[in-house]
Amino acid sequence: MAEFRVMSLEFRVIKKQFPIFKHHKKLVYLDNAATTQTPQAVIEAMNFYYEQRRANIHRGTYQLSGLATQLYEESRDTVAEFLQAFDKEIIFTSGATHGLNLLAYTLCKDLKPGDNIVLTRMEHHANLVPWQVMSKRYGFQIRYIELEIKNQKSKIKNPYELNFDSAKNSIDINTKIVSFCHISNTLGVINPAKELIALARRVGAITIVDAAQSVAHMPIDVKALDCDFLVFSGHKMYGPTGIGVLFGKKERLEKLDPFFFGGDMIREVRYDGATWADLPWKFEGGTPNIAGAIGLAAAIRFIEHIGLDTIRAHENELRAYALAQLELLPKVTVVGPGNHLPTSPYRVEELADCPIISFGIEGIHPHDIAQILDHHGVAVRAGHHCTMPLMKYLGAVGTTRLSFGLYNTKKDVDRFMIGMKDVIKKFS
Ligand code: ALA
Repeated sequence: MAEFRVMSLEFRVIKKQFPIFKHHKKLVYLDNAATTQTPQAVIEAMNFYYEQRRANIHRGTYQLSGLATQLYEESRDTVAEFLQAFDKEIIFTSGATHGLNLLAYTLCKDLKPGDNIVLTRMEHHANLVPWQVMSKRYGFQIRYIELEIKNQKSKIKNPYELNFDSAKNSIDINTKIVSFCHISNTLGVINPAKELIALARRVGAITIVDAAQSVAHMPIDVKALDCDFLVFSGHKMYGPTGIGVLFGKKERLEKLDPFFFGGDMIREVRYDGATWADLPWKFEGGTPNIAGAIGLAAAIRFIEHIGLDTIRAHENELRAYALAQLELLPKVTVVGPGNHLPTSPYRVEELADCPIISFGIEGIHPHDIAQILDHHGVAVRAGHHCTMPLMKYLGAVGTTRLSFGLYNTKKDVDRFMIGMKDVIKKFS
């Protein structure tokens, strides 16, 4: 406990680096799974570009353009090192949704009736709808890995996790793509990425990891994961909005056709056709979000300075602290994994909890909960969290979700609990 007190003191200092909290002094921000706040270092990095380095990249023969290009490409290097990838394997996108659409549009062209792709029941719409659209166009089947309730230790919890037997049954020799979220934005469960990738590898299927909810909370090593592709958004990891990353293994990206066509992604253009630039630029048509890439690199440096293991430990402490108090409230159901250690053999090196708690209270609509919490200055998300089919699967209208970031403290949880007691009072 002494260690946590020291850590929480340090995290209080870290919070001061986020200007939003100077402008909203009473704000308890617990919606980090939707978007995180921006530290001063990220704002300054982007301002540096706008004030001192603004020029287009890859095009100018003048010095300023060279300096801007250098900043942009150095940002790519920072992302590559962060993921243990090569710089040519990093494509800047506008976010995870862009990356997933790029993959759906380019990979599905080779699929035909009789083929299948495998997703999970807990996918965000971004990892669902693009595949549905392509399935209608090319006639392949979509299969969903089922969920199950595991390790139910307390009667208030409904700890849904992936059913690994269902994964084994769904992935077969006709499976061409397996695409899944690393952490579910709604359930907060951490999926056994390595094991799913190994299953897919056995049948030669392409693997895609949606790391939107994990990238700011746990170290990601694409080489160790051995995934073919991985996507995430900058704005969920203390970076700017409108920037994201698609990682792809070089040999996979080389085989893919470009998705956006225009300036900067070409080698040669004639009136009767064109050829493409080398990796990674063939996927970055048009002027990219230069300031966004620079801001994203600053966010990565910010995270690395604190350390993902430290962040993870801090957020897990907060989650455990919040869960222990939520348990004491009447009629609460937590739909994600509870306060338990993973016992499934395939989750040996996964962490016990992730920084999301998604819950319902019998008889109270999630929007009402969120609204009352808002009156207490506490920002949480309520509703279907862009996972409408999952809500139907769970038989819920929606949930209320609190999601932690590195600037949250136990005091924030205490303020959340004061709000929750008011919710219960108003509806009793
Ligand atoms: N995908 C984001 C969320 O879960 C917006 O809130």
